[in-house]
Amino acid sequence: MTLVFATNNQYKLREINHVLGDSFTLLSLGRIGLTEDIPENEPTLEGNALEKARHIYRATGLNVFADDTGLETAALNGAPGVHSARFAGPGKDSDANIDRLLGLLGDNPDRRARFRTVIALILDGKEYTFEGTVEGTITMNRRGSEGFGYDPVFLPDGCSLTFAEMSLGEKNRISHRARAFEKLRRFLSGQEPPVQDQ
Ligand code: IMP
Repeated sequence: MTLVFATNNQYKLREINHVLGDSFTLLSLGRIGLTEDIPENEPTLEGNALEKARHIYRATGLNVFADDTGLETAALNGAPGVHSARFAGPGKDSDANIDRLLGLLGDNPDRRARFRTVIALILDGKEYTFEGTVEGTITMNRRGSEGFGYDPVFLPDGCSLTFAEMSLGEKNRISHRARAFEKLRRFLSGQEPPVQDQ
């Protein structure tokens, strides 16, 4: 089966190839020649994922899925959430985003946070969504150099390593996106109906 994955993020492409294996041929946006910015104007992760998938489907008619992820912290009432990429400004600067997050949390003892990924799939014109989450805490300082985004300050529950201290394989065993991708994989291989929750 051939599917467009509405991303050009090489890291995400590696992650999903790891989960989906050889049974699917994934085409990135670059591979289908779409270089324009895909709109992400909705106030929710679900809305953004659907908006991106619909945009590609309208442009190409190909089966497509898109993902949107947010880091939701309890002490900040769910922020940065849907604004995770641009938390510190339009430049999508991960280092500045982490600085802002650590600055806002200060020495607040409530460091609970979770990553949430929503995948929107359009298959033969029908829309489906899948969700994956991972619970954890925000560390006081950065640890590790793997991964991307907020990985250096996210410590998954039950782990002694931040996402940025883990190998891709270790992160993929528990990550929000891997869990959402796994639900997508099971649905596409006919093993499971789409579900919204973990
Ligand atoms: P996106 O919707 O997947 O582009 O994610 C939005 C933002 O959330 C990214 O720019 C990152 O800052 C952050 N993010 C998404 N996934 C991860 C992850 O696996 N680790 C750390 N940060 C992430």
